[in-house]
Amino acid sequence: MPDLSTDFAGIKSPNPFWLASAPPTNSGEQVMRAFDAGWGGAVWKTLGNPIVNVSGRLGSIDHGDRRMIGLNNIELITDRPLDVNFREIAETKKRFPKHAVIVSLMFDTKEEWREAIRRSEDTGADGLELNFGCPHGMCERGMGSAVGQEPKVLEELVRWVMDSARIPVIAKLTPNVGHIEDPALAAVRGGADGLSLINTVQSIIGVDLERLVPLPTVGTASSHGGYCGPAVKPIALRMVGVLARDERITIPISGIGGISTWRDAAEFIALGSTSVQVCTAVMHHGYRIIDDLVEGLEQYLASKQMRSVRELVGRAVPGFVEWGELDLNHHVVAEIDAATCIGCQLCHTACHDGAHQCIHLPGTRAHAGHVAPQAARAAELAQAAAPEAPYRVPWVDETECVGCNLCALVCPVEGCITMVERRRAPAKDTWNERVAQGRDRVPGGLRDLR
Ligand SMILES: Cc1cc2nc3c(=O)[nH]c(=O)nc-3n(C[C@H](O)[C@H](O)[C@H](O)COP(=O)(O)O)c2cc1C
Ligand code: SF4
Ligand code: SF4
Repeated sequence: MPDLSTDFAGIKSPNPFWLASAPPTNSGEQVMRAFDAGWGGAVWKTLGNPIVNVSGRLGSIDHGDRRMIGLNNIELITDRPLDVNFREIAETKKRFPKHAVIVSLMFDTKEEWREAIRRSEDTGADGLELNFGCPHGMCERGMGSAVGQEPKVLEELVRWVMDSARIPVIAKLTPNVGHIEDPALAAVRGGADGLSLINTVQSIIGVDLERLVPLPTVGTASSHGGYCGPAVKPIALRMVGVLARDERITIPISGIGGISTWRDAAEFIALGSTSVQVCTAVMHHGYRIIDDLVEGLEQYLASKQMRSVRELVGRAVPGFVEWGELDLNHHVVAEIDAATCIGCQLCHTACHDGAHQCIHLPGTRAHAGHVAPQAARAAELAQAAAPEAPYRVPWVDETECVGCNLCALVCPVEGCITMVERRRAPAKDTWNERVAQGRDRVPGGLRDLR
């Protein structure tokens, strides 16, 4: 089986799967149980000066029969005494010397940081994670995302930490910024050994329409919280990819945000993550999901003839380019497999109301004057291929199809609609090339303002 062992800026773990700093890493009893279950590392629930939490704290979004596709929280950092946390971290590290134990920290003054770093190192922990991401409560006190949103402050704070830290330091970033490169580069300049992202996205999860109060309610009010879970994965993937392809980011990345399955993890790794962290999926389904994560990743790597997870790190990064680099001559059209089509005609509705009016019902004609010979032929073929239900299978007017993919996305039958290539021209052409050659440049436009 492929080797899953991971070395993240000197922090070693038997596999790349770490628990993110959150309720699943609240205590030694929990983290040890997670390591017994198979997790490779854990970032302890953030330590800081004592706080008081509110209740309730969580709200979520369900979709169809799927519960908690997005989770929102207004919880702060640990509410357990620092002494207890440090004692349990030391116990955990002693019992699991080969697992990664990382202490997440969020303090205010330089002295507090220095003291917390010393005490963390005394536990034998493998690394520190600096929480520059919490987007509620702590930022009102000038910490968490308030630091993550101010690159100068972030850089200075990382310097403070690097002055005294002897173990690797990871800066955990907030996604609540316009350009994720700015805080990431500040962390690199400050001397951080690694980056982790994303922390949660500022959000209001909903409104109680009976009481007319936002959710989750704390008595008669609420505040905004931090959003995470499967719904944030695309946001997190982009941010990880943006940093991974940036040559100025010279330190490893730990990917976080909506990871629930081995596929999610593999995608984060392919887009540049050396390790991955999980919170919501464990809060939802428990530590036991690690079995599927490990087994799935191992099998995937083996199927790709990769001998270790390191071979997957960043493999999708070269394919992540700016829009202006995409080939304008690459064109695809929808093709319906009449043999598997169940005739629900959802594709027709989607294309007609939400796309480009080029999927037609059997027996109907395309727009007047637009029935190209290929389109008529497609209709005939569709009907011939589905003799059982010839009047339910729609047909695609290829001459009008822009290749947006919508019909394939709404079709309930896996593989029934495929997008097939119909190049516009043999050679590649891009927007950037057009601009460089003066073929698409509009002088005096917004670009001139920048
Ligand atoms: C209830 C809750 C508490 C959290 N507490 C912390 C924390 O103390 N420190 C921290 O860095 N991140 C905290 N997070 C953020 C997670 O570590 C993680 O960055 C985020 O949930 C995204 O990952 P996910 O989509 O797998 O949940 C918390 C998340 C939740 C849901
Ligand atoms: S959505 Fe799919 S199954 Fe339904 S009619 Fe279109 S091609 Fe057939
Ligand atoms: S790909 Fe888009 S434009 Fe083409 S048939 Fe499907 S929905 Fe219509």
